[in-house]
Amino acid sequence: MRAFRYLAVAVLALAAAAKADEAGWWKNAVIYEIYPRSFADTNGDGMGDLNGITAHLDYLRGLGVDAIWIAPFFPSPQVDFGYDVSDYVAVDPQYGTMADFDRLVAEAGKRHIRVISDLVVNHTSDRHQWFLESRASRKNPKADWYVWRDGGWFGRPPNNWLSIFGHGAWQYDGVRRQFYYHAFYKQQPDLNWRNPEVRKAMYDVMRFWMKRGVAGFRLDAVTSLFEDPKLRDEAVGWGRAPNGDPIFSRQYTDNLPEVHDVLREMRKVTDEFPGRILIGETYLPNIEELARMYGRANDETQLPMDLQFLMTADVSVAGLRRRLGEAETRLNGNMPLLVSDNHDNQRSWDRLGDGKHNEEIARLLATLLLTPRATVLLYYGQELGMANNDPTRVEDVRDPIGRMAFPAVKGRDGERTPMPWDGTPNAGFSTGAKTWLPVGPDHAWHNVAAESRDPKSLLNYYKTLIRLRRENPALRDGGLKFVDETNPTVLSFLRQSGAATVLVALNLSGQPQTVRYDLGAAKLQTLASTYGAAAVASPTALALPAFGAYVGAVR
Ligand code: NOJ
Ligand code: CA
Repeated sequence: MRAFRYLAVAVLALAAAAKADEAGWWKNAVIYEIYPRSFADTNGDGMGDLNGITAHLDYLRGLGVDAIWIAPFFPSPQVDFGYDVSDYVAVDPQYGTMADFDRLVAEAGKRHIRVISDLVVNHTSDRHQWFLESRASRKNPKADWYVWRDGGWFGRPPNNWLSIFGHGAWQYDGVRRQFYYHAFYKQQPDLNWRNPEVRKAMYDVMRFWMKRGVAGFRLDAVTSLFEDPKLRDEAVGWGRAPNGDPIFSRQYTDNLPEVHDVLREMRKVTDEFPGRILIGETYLPNIEELARMYGRANDETQLPMDLQFLMTADVSVAGLRRRLGEAETRLNGNMPLLVSDNHDNQRSWDRLGDGKHNEEIARLLATLLLTPRATVLLYYGQELGMANNDPTRVEDVRDPIGRMAFPAVKGRDGERTPMPWDGTPNAGFSTGAKTWLPVGPDHAWHNVAAESRDPKSLLNYYKTLIRLRRENPALRDGGLKFVDETNPTVLSFLRQSGAATVLVALNLSGQPQTVRYDLGAAKLQTLASTYGAAAVASPTALALPAFGAYVGAVR
């Protein structure tokens, strides 16, 4: 009888632990961003679709990802390739049907992969029914759903605010005879988040997708939700941006305190459904602002993106050590979300590569992302060493930002070209005659088929690290402690949990370096390295080649 009671208690404890695990699934997770237009095309129209994602779920499972975040696949005029949503609760026919979406979620679930949806909260398309109603008159039920203002004298806009995408942020509407504000393109009018009806409508959209099984949302442009109600002019600095706009502060249009009220409300909405999370698109100036995005009572986003660590220009050892240290110590114990690549920035292959050691630098970057205590976002193709493939002629440019100021600003096409599945002319992406953006020439050697076969490929290195961070207790649960802290070329840290300790050493220089650690009698046993380090490396003098990375158990 007593044995039975013990057994019952043990089973209940295990079930409780599994439930807690389920709730915290996103801690340490690897989340993979898919730009659906560019992942895989199954109907030959040259554009990716939802069925293309479903068809490649086994690849994602083999890579070891826990979740995919899919950029917008909702009906849209596609001015900003889906970030101009004209219906939040449907699937754009170019991507498939709602049944395709449901099948994708179900098939992903079978492979323990969660699906995270993008949520474009700051603005809608100017073709959205809400906007069509709002612009029809100054007195209609949705008149106050967007940011409408009268102009100044002689038809001038209400103030000097500029769009993030370039030029004025106010568009005159001849029907309503007022201006509306758009932080992005003029076809993306900003919603008025001070209006409780707008909030409720968007929260209902969230409930709609969570009922369909999404594991959470990536909140697009969430720091842009509010603008100064007094419409104060922004300060203008010296000089010009590459598109000719004045240099401009965003004190009155970015990251206003009210953003946090909305994040708290959204968190309550996602908490209605167990295990759902909020990821923030959070370009912020410093660690304090990033820490605030988790909420004072941990009641805002679980995972605001850390876009300061690897998206900024300073990738010196000192800069990385400082920022990684801040992420470890100044986020109140919360999980940093590390990210190096996405659909808005030049791929790290080119941005961080030096043109000579790109293969080594890509492996170094993989190690830097996947060995600290962090949740990690990967961008499709990053695991293959995909290069940017920028347009060279203005007539080929698809992204409107690029068309506005080419060639000074080339736009974002380069980081959005089709996923290379194999070395055939369309890279196995599409059977169509033409793909929406050209396949990059590097697909001939950086592709899934070739790299799967090669044990030394970047893809297999990613797989090794993702498996290690799941299986090794120190990499999974351990805290992070820097060692050899003043070394100007090699970044080294320990991860430690209980008796398990792992050393990570990253040579960020183009010259070989030898590092000496004071590890007492301990020995190093290699777990992974970018240069085929011997199974047991020297415990006292670790020799790293140019841009070499080493991960070893300290025993
Ligand atoms: C951020 C998205 O990542 C980007 O692609 C988009 O253009 C803007 N937000 C506007 O929605
Ligand atoms: Ca297609």
